[in-house]
Amino acid sequence: MEVELTAPNGKKWSQPLGLFINNEFVKSSNEQTLASINPATEAEICSVFAATAEDVDTAVAAARKAFKDPSWKGLSGTERGVLMHKLADLVAENAEILATIECLDNGKPYATALAENVPEVVNVLRYYAGYADKNFGQVIDVGPAKFAYTVKEPLGVCGQIIPWNYPLDMAAWKIGPALCCGNTVVLKLAEQTPLSMLYVAKLVKEAGFPPGVLNIINGHGREAGAALVQSPGVDKIAFTGSTATGKEIMKMAALTMKNITLETGGKSPLIVFEDADLDLAATWSHIGIMSNQGQICTATSRILVHESVYDKFVEAFKAKVEEISVVGDPFAETTFHGPQVTKAQYERVLGYIKIGKEEGATVMLGGEPAPQQGKGFFIAPTVFTNVKPSMKIYREEIFGPCVAIVSFKTEEEAIELANDTTYGLGSALFTKDLVKAHRVAREIEAGMVWINSSNDSDYRIPFGGVKQSGIGRELGEAGLAAYCNIKSIHVNMAV
Ligand code: NAI
Ligand code: MG
Repeated sequence: MEVELTAPNGKKWSQPLGLFINNEFVKSSNEQTLASINPATEAEICSVFAATAEDVDTAVAAARKAFKDPSWKGLSGTERGVLMHKLADLVAENAEILATIECLDNGKPYATALAENVPEVVNVLRYYAGYADKNFGQVIDVGPAKFAYTVKEPLGVCGQIIPWNYPLDMAAWKIGPALCCGNTVVLKLAEQTPLSMLYVAKLVKEAGFPPGVLNIINGHGREAGAALVQSPGVDKIAFTGSTATGKEIMKMAALTMKNITLETGGKSPLIVFEDADLDLAATWSHIGIMSNQGQICTATSRILVHESVYDKFVEAFKAKVEEISVVGDPFAETTFHGPQVTKAQYERVLGYIKIGKEEGATVMLGGEPAPQQGKGFFIAPTVFTNVKPSMKIYREEIFGPCVAIVSFKTEEEAIELANDTTYGLGSALFTKDLVKAHRVAREIEAGMVWINSSNDSDYRIPFGGVKQSGIGRELGEAGLAAYCNIKSIHVNMAV
């Protein structure tokens, strides 16, 4: 049920392959597997067991049982917090192995995985561990005839479905608040990146969580994911992924009227006003679209620049991309930009680049594959200019290292362009004018606005979208609302 692996950086570990149910790794019922590929070399790393609908039922039954079991239900919030802190400690102790797995399986640079993704898991777990005994109801004074109060109760069994772009972070964002509130969980990982959270599963057991509290499985979306969403034993579904799949999930969840939170796609705008610090704007514009190979739901993939500074900005931005976006082996210290996660994503992004060229946009940088030693799903950072708002590359989520730059004349036009999208996740604006910054921030239809930065995410601050970018919020205190019910208790004090 485990295989010994060695990564190019010399790290060795024992990689679990099973479905983690009831604190044990087990085979899938028909022993089906799915292969995990290293996108930098296109070589298979190993195969893991992939859940059938029957296995999902087994995991859900384990979570249901654990939800009622005194070993979990009987814990105080403080005690749940202790377990979560223990898991955070173990994740921190295993940081190098987890960053290695993430780099190997996803293709993101090792240095980033170690500096950002693993610490995010630790931070999120600790943050919600702290909330576990500080999330309580109220006494509501309605006069002497009645005593009324509320209690916050866990929802029950939470089905959580995560994508491949941030396997560790997305798992943490979901399990942190769910466990904090006393729920039990069946977490389904993305089939493209099955490995890092299976390693965390080992740590879940070591941390001392009772069996069945946190089950972690791999499996295909249409099989295991759909079974989880439709299961009558699941009380809530939390999903991060594409808008199309989010809509399917909403429909399926309606049959049993499940509570849902969805975090889906985006086509986030970044506005550069005429008075912006152009060097700052170029720096953050680069981070906002080229980090994580452009595979970020909040990527600021549409840059809107005031016509008076357009040429200067474009030059500064191009220089930043050329200087910082070093394409290469994700284990190399000098690398900023690794491969796209899979061949399918690589082809999808190249497809959009082709469409952009056919639509008449100018490729001012990149626009082609960038294989390393003839291998890997690498795509050169790509910058489109001469873009019209009607073009597909301006309207649709590409989810790759591709940005479209357009110009505007007035503040009204900038706001109109920014809001001319079915999405509403992130947004950014650059200006030195404080009043304008806050005025425009209020006008943008998005869940998040960054003033003079981009993609600044913080576990203490709510994250989520409006329009077709999702429903509900993760992170921060607001993230707790997705994982508890408020029960109102009325006590008659009169006769
Ligand atoms: P996807 O949304 O289909 O997959 C995300 C997760 O949902 C995976 O765990 C998958 O197994 C599961 N899933 C898929 N179909 C399901 C179903 N019918 N029922 C239940 N679960 C299901 O995304 P995919 O195919 O990996 O990527 C396609 C595009 O989606 C990307 O190019 C990108 O535009 C977008 N995307 C957006 C993400 C975000 O963070 N907002 C993350 C990943 C992809
Ligand atoms: Mg992989």
